[in-house]
Amino acid sequence: MNLTRWDKLEITEEMLLYQKSPERPAKAIKALEKKTLYRYFAWLERHLQKMKYSGPYGLAPYHSERRSDLAKSIKAKRKDSYLPELQPDLPLPNYYKNIDTHQHPGGLWSDEIAGIVYERGARSTTLLLGDSHGDLHSSLVDYIDDGHSYERILDMGCGFGKSTMPFAQRFPNVQVEGIDLSAPCLTLAAQNARKAKQKNVHFQQMNLEKTNYDDNSFDLITSTMMLHEIPTKALKNMLDEAYRILRPGGRMVHLDFHVIPDEFHRFLHYGHSARNNEPYMRTLGELDLEKEISSKGFENIDLRQFAESDDTDFELDGAWRFPWTAISATKPTN
Ligand SMILES: C[S@@+](CC[C@H](N)C(=O)[O-])C[C@H]1O[C@@H](n2cnc3c(N)ncnc32)[C@H](O)[C@@H]1O
Repeated sequence: MNLTRWDKLEITEEMLLYQKSPERPAKAIKALEKKTLYRYFAWLERHLQKMKYSGPYGLAPYHSERRSDLAKSIKAKRKDSYLPELQPDLPLPNYYKNIDTHQHPGGLWSDEIAGIVYERGARSTTLLLGDSHGDLHSSLVDYIDDGHSYERILDMGCGFGKSTMPFAQRFPNVQVEGIDLSAPCLTLAAQNARKAKQKNVHFQQMNLEKTNYDDNSFDLITSTMMLHEIPTKALKNMLDEAYRILRPGGRMVHLDFHVIPDEFHRFLHYGHSARNNEPYMRTLGELDLEKEISSKGFENIDLRQFAESDDTDFELDGAWRFPWTAISATKPTN
């Protein structure tokens, strides 16, 4: 544990507790939980997000009042190659349906304009990124793009396409597929691709635990902020599926929250997991991910902290941030 972070908060009792039993930071954390300052922080973290979506001026009621125009704005006017392939009968898993993830009322799937509401909500989730949603996703493409040439790329849990489009733009001669459970998000993703005339991208409604793709279909599978949305069993199914549909020698890269540098950040991150209706953030943090990936047969497994934009780094800045981690592995060539 990095004591300087406790020091900054001037929580000397907790520092003393920690110093007495450094092997049991839980004791210090228990004391911190009772602090008024921490309780204010926790209340604000939960309720600002709640108000953002559901308050009288929240995104949900605001967009609901404009529902018919918004729904029209994303509806395709003609049949063309951009049309997403939706499967209205696709069963949605309970872990997906039963949680209003991110405190988004009705989740990302139950309302035709949920994709638009989610896109607006996401603008203020990641500091510094604004409405271009730019840096994070293009940083991931920079990280992956080592000159290797790809033929087919899959983005699992693509949402409204903000993680998919940077791949399509960087590799214009590569076919890029985005899959998600959310029809409203896929509809928006397709409309955005149409507006950008990004012809090499295609969106389909599928469960990433069991897709419709043939064996050995892709040479790169990627995901951004998807692993922490699914329970461990689904994550294990996803790894099996990624292994099946990757070509021999193909690479899988996920950007998510996993390598947490110390107990203090773990405490804050798991608190966020509970407060923002994201229970699988915690299970992902606690999972021995390297072991799971290895047990499926992958090799060259690499888990490393990832700076989402310039000057965001645990070592440089003791402030709270998401524990961004790039998780990379390859399927053996034989
Ligand atoms: C936090 S969002 C991230 C979206 C996008 N990758 C991005 O970076 O903006 C996670 C996405 O995973 C999707 N998702 C969750 N479980 C899924 C599953 N089993 N199959 C396919 N998509 C899933 C959700 O619908 C959601 O769009």
